[in-house]
Amino acid sequence: MENQVNVMPRIGDAAPQFTAVTTQGTINFPDDFKGKWKILFSHPADFTPVCTSEFMTFGTMAKEFEELNCQLVGLSVDGLHSHIAWLRTIKEKIDWKGKKNVEIQFPLVVDVTMNVAKLYGMIQPGESTTSAVRAVFFIDPEDKIRTILYYPLSLGRNFDEIKRVLIGLQTVDNFGVALPADWRPGDEVIVPPAGSCGVAKERMEGVDKELHCYDWFFCTKQISKAEVESKLGK
Ligand code: BEZ
Repeated sequence: MENQVNVMPRIGDAAPQFTAVTTQGTINFPDDFKGKWKILFSHPADFTPVCTSEFMTFGTMAKEFEELNCQLVGLSVDGLHSHIAWLRTIKEKIDWKGKKNVEIQFPLVVDVTMNVAKLYGMIQPGESTTSAVRAVFFIDPEDKIRTILYYPLSLGRNFDEIKRVLIGLQTVDNFGVALPADWRPGDEVIVPPAGSCGVAKERMEGVDKELHCYDWFFCTKQISKAEVESKLGK
């Protein structure tokens, strides 16, 4: 049992499959969302303040994720009626930081057995044995896990960062580049490292005028914001 709790899918693994009841009907994950990016995220409990602020933020941004060809799927270990009541309360009663009338249209998984939370390593006993931590799994259109974020119960997530990670992963795939610290669309990107002494020499001699090299192993080029944006959602 203890081992089961500690299963942690890793970056590069195939997203574990599950079938679950959600607020939008039964889903088969990730199969129902083939060809899309997916963000599967857990929250500790319905009707709690940090989680409510997070759902209002994600709900407000839902269209932006849709435009990035990304399906959001939430999860907690609460039951269906709790999920429905909480989402209704969010829509009908909560006015927070100018956000109101927020309708959550993405599926929220019912996981009273904790089977899905355990499958994804979302139960982290040092933090809580009875609820999921704030986990975020970024899963690509081929159903491979590409990034995992974990936050504790007491700290709400940064949804701008969640969107930045998704855009970053799509940019990495579309342009075959790596991205430096704090990258945002329009900033310089990192080109693959020199694979031979000859290329290293050429890079230091500035043969390729598109590149800016800080040293032979650290070369960048410019990709405009418009160019990045033209390929997003792929
Ligand atoms: C919250 O969402 O406010 C919360 C949930 C579980 C523990 C602490 C805070």
